[in-house]
Amino acid sequence: MSTKQFNVVIVGLGFGSEFIPIYKCHPQVNMYGVCRRNETEMHKIADAFEIEKRYTSYDEVLADPNVDFVHINSPIPDHGWMTLKALDAGKHVMCTVPMATTIDECRQIVEKVAETGLKYMMAETVVYSREFLYIKDLYDQGELGDIQYMAASHPQDMEGWPEYWERMIPMHYATHVVSPVLGLMNSRAEYVSCLGSGVISPELAEKSGNQYAVESCHIKLKDSPVAAHIWRFLFDTARQYRESFDVYGTKKSFEWALIEGEEHVLHTAKNPEHEIAQRITAPDFASRLPEAIQKFTTAIQDAEHLSFIQGAGHGGSHPHLAHQFATALADDRDPWPNAVISANWTCVGLCAHESTNKGGEIVRLPDFTLA
Ligand SMILES: NC(=O)c1ccc[n+]([C@@H]2O[C@H](COP(=O)([O-])OP(=O)(O)OC[C@H]3O[C@@H](n4cnc5c(N)ncnc54)[C@H](O)[C@@H]3O)[C@@H](O)[C@H]2O)c1
Repeated sequence: MSTKQFNVVIVGLGFGSEFIPIYKCHPQVNMYGVCRRNETEMHKIADAFEIEKRYTSYDEVLADPNVDFVHINSPIPDHGWMTLKALDAGKHVMCTVPMATTIDECRQIVEKVAETGLKYMMAETVVYSREFLYIKDLYDQGELGDIQYMAASHPQDMEGWPEYWERMIPMHYATHVVSPVLGLMNSRAEYVSCLGSGVISPELAEKSGNQYAVESCHIKLKDSPVAAHIWRFLFDTARQYRESFDVYGTKKSFEWALIEGEEHVLHTAKNPEHEIAQRITAPDFASRLPEAIQKFTTAIQDAEHLSFIQGAGHGGSHPHLAHQFATALADDRDPWPNAVISANWTCVGLCAHESTNKGGEIVRLPDFTLA
């Protein structure tokens, strides 16, 4: 293992601060600095975690030659421009989901990564959750058989979250449902068809430019006989938060628990009827990590953050994400998901909303996401 440590600056210290203790313990990362515009709040966090380098300006971070990579955790509308600026400054980028809010920004990021050889990874929590890792193991070992169909849902009532969510469109934050259905077989989405359903309040509709409460989308997987269904809402629909992933194989199928905290269900074909369904809990995968960060699959720093109250620690994914990117830098390989895959996952949602606006017409994913 290389002994080089990569200097990281975390930008945005809400959800972003979750990663500070993980990077502090990771053998290949030096938790170099933090950046937040609100100076008082920034000092509070930097003091608590004893971080010396502090920035209130993103430009100062990018001008610092000691910074190897930025981990961007700013609000969604800022992901695209912040990533592009970091790449222009010669920094590697890990960015929380989604990659960007327009297809053009995704294209620019993919092109810049190809031009510069810098690493880019979208920090998608779902594909490093213990459930996904468990299902992926079952699939890789042939236990599911051939995949016949996948479905994923992400209902979440965003009332009480930062105001910018009122300007968001459900399918523009869809990577938590897109990533598992594409990530399981490492597929790309070829085209989508999406319908809007129900109505949201006129105030929210005016703010976001979207009138539908729910968006429900079918995805055609490229070079595969499989299709998947995903659906989302952000407001005005009654359901507990859930990020579910159901997979149907010829031999075994996995269905996500209906209520958070309950057990999932594994179905085995050809068993006697009453033995087909079995309740299961996904095991933890901390053993895949360096010992120093294993404890973070179950530890949450800020359990009061709405994201953790509703997201229950994102399936223990945070240390896996940090490790994936740190080792990609150390080993000089592409992280997973890399820029092209992240663009395909993000553009599914962007294309889906375009399809919604066209009454469900098929919209093809741009070529630069299929390479
Ligand atoms: N499961 C997941 O993948 C997951 C979970 C939670 C949040 N997130 C993502 O993390 C991001 C942040 O979410 P949050 O809930 O912490 O939001 P938030 O609004 O609470 O925090 C955003 C942070 O970014 C900082 N910021 C904004 N603009 C900045 C700038 N120009 N320079 C430096 N700092 C800036 C703010 O000061 C704040 O600290 C969002 O994009 C969200 O989608 C992802």
